[in-house]
Amino acid sequence: MDWYSLTRQLFFRLSGETSHELGLDLLGAGERLGLLKHLAPAVANLETEVAGIRFANPVGLAAGLDKNGDYIDAFARLGFGFIEIGTVTPRPQPGNPKPRLFRLPEQRAIINRMGFNNKGVDHLVERVKASSYEGVLGINIGKNFDTAVEDATQDYLTCLDKVYPHADYITVNISSPNTPGLRTLQYGDALKELLEPLKERQAQLTSEHGHKPIFVKIAPDMSAEEVGLVADTLLATGMEGVIATNTTLSREGVEGARYGDEQGGLSGAPVEDLATQTVRLLAAELGGKLPIIGVGGILDGEGAVDKIDAGASLVQVYSGFIYRGPELIGECVDALAAQRARG
Ligand SMILES: Cc1cc2nc3c(=O)[nH]c(=O)nc-3n(C[C@H](O)[C@H](O)[C@H](O)COP(=O)(O)O)c2cc1C
Repeated sequence: MDWYSLTRQLFFRLSGETSHELGLDLLGAGERLGLLKHLAPAVANLETEVAGIRFANPVGLAAGLDKNGDYIDAFARLGFGFIEIGTVTPRPQPGNPKPRLFRLPEQRAIINRMGFNNKGVDHLVERVKASSYEGVLGINIGKNFDTAVEDATQDYLTCLDKVYPHADYITVNISSPNTPGLRTLQYGDALKELLEPLKERQAQLTSEHGHKPIFVKIAPDMSAEEVGLVADTLLATGMEGVIATNTTLSREGVEGARYGDEQGGLSGAPVEDLATQTVRLLAAELGGKLPIIGVGGILDGEGAVDKIDAGASLVQVYSGFIYRGPELIGECVDALAAQRARG
């Protein structure tokens, strides 16, 4: 049994969030003690250029696992082609009351209602400055839970200003189901009114810090028509990529399961088809004008291949990483290399 399977067996006896925190602490300690470089499996190179950025491979860590940028160097050791930290908000906030993270192992799923628990953008920036990571770093930004949705733009601008100099790309997260009202920003005029000022601010920041693309992360719970409208707005406002998708509000695939009725966003295997379908719809609407990052339910190499087949240029993993551990990264890269070789 490999080291990840062993620690996983021990950790899965603990509550969702306790094991999560212990796992991250252990990862951080492994890095500080210099153990990770021996334990982490080697990952092949599979260079990929997207939105003007060169990625060592197309398999990234999705947002939400390293919300504060506290474990960047540790995750870097595991062979990710890119790492997305956050979601970060302007001010620190505790998130929702615990319990708020539930594992559904039989369904290879997670339900969470963390609610953007994070130490605030200033802490995250300090952590990025202290890290020695040289690979691609995305920083995912959001709004504080007590900022009214009408005032959300200011929160995103505050975060954009602070993270911009330290990121390779910035993700605007408008798709977490756990911050009341956040998802309404995905629709109609609200989306345009959020993205236009961000685009303007990006232009100002570019002169001092160079160009950093802005991506937008969307939910898997939209109709085809809604996906079409979002795609139009992303193009009209000059966004440079779209991350599809966040967790789902659907409970298909977890009916009757322990914790299946918990409130929050569902991720892992049950969101896979919804996410892939969203990627496919986006690809059809965008016609190659914007790159898509596919995320949701990737649990093996085949899952990664399916996202690329649907039209994604890069993929990210979260729940699959929790269930499979670091071996998932190399497995996905190898499967994508084989897919590329097939043409
Ligand atoms: C516990 C947990 C926390 C998450 N936190 C965030 C977050 O802060 N920001 C974000 O954009 N996505 C967040 N996500 C969503 C993931 O980044 C990803 O989009 C989603 O889980 C689907 O991918 P997966 O099936 O590989 O997990 C979170 C997911 C989980 C399970």
